[in-house]
Amino acid sequence: STVFLNGDYLPMEEARISPMDRGFLFGDGIYEVLPSYAGRMVGFDPHMERMSQGLSAVGIKLDWSRTRWKAVCDTLIERNGSGNLGLYLHVSRGADSRRFHAYPENVSPTVFAFTFEIPAEPVADKSRVKAFRVVTDRDLRWERCHIKSTALLGNVMHFQHGYQQGVDETLLFNEREELTEASACNAYIVKDGVVITPPLDQYKLPGITRYILLDLLRKDGQIPVQERTVTKAEVYAADEVWVTSSSKEVVPVIAVDGRPVGNGEVGDIWLQAQKIYSAGKF
Ligand code: PDD
Repeated sequence: STVFLNGDYLPMEEARISPMDRGFLFGDGIYEVLPSYAGRMVGFDPHMERMSQGLSAVGIKLDWSRTRWKAVCDTLIERNGSGNLGLYLHVSRGADSRRFHAYPENVSPTVFAFTFEIPAEPVADKSRVKAFRVVTDRDLRWERCHIKSTALLGNVMHFQHGYQQGVDETLLFNEREELTEASACNAYIVKDGVVITPPLDQYKLPGITRYILLDLLRKDGQIPVQERTVTKAEVYAADEVWVTSSSKEVVPVIAVDGRPVGNGEVGDIWLQAQKIYSAGKF
């Protein structure tokens, strides 16, 4: 595939970065992942907004306009066949000849982007959706989870915890047994027809799918939405559980820690919510 690296488009096999890049040595970088279907990106503006917030939070100075990013994304999409593509955008602080913790003064950020194939657009169809089974784990990441940092070892270890048990995701809970999110998704429950998701703070990534979904649900007005604390007991007792992320959209969860969610089948509110998301996401 064709990738973008520091101003050039080149085959993936030819892309080279320095081993002194702080992205490599420290996980010192910010990234984004967004989907594109037949040349149309989902949530480009909010993804760009989150990236600039992340970059300024960690003091990486990159004076790129949104138009410039758009041109890179459009070029990569076109050169990689304009099908169902995930776009990975990465800005690390750059290469420094010393391994010194402080932010170096005179480095230029490394800008890297590539595409990867993703499944066709998710559909609101109970018989076609791949429902998830999940396990739970104590959230042991850091207190800056609102920053979409490339330092993902905490998330990777939580994902692996579930993967080793043969499930698709891991739901994370703080020391008070309150739901934060999943290892690579935001999380929700449905109880008595109400969609409930934990409020944003430094323990969750402000997911773009979450943002688009809550906005569309509120505009639609048929399903009530609450942002409030969700306990582990509430997750076990929920009628439905969902997780969201950019390329998966809204995913129904049918088992938590081996216990069925509700009647163990994909729920009706999920169907309605995914329909609303599919109709409004662009
Ligand atoms: N993961 N929470 C975490 C910890 C995530 O890593 C992600 C996304 C989300 C969902 O965010 P969004 O709706 O903006 O995709 C929530 C990406 C896709 C990844 O690391 O691959």
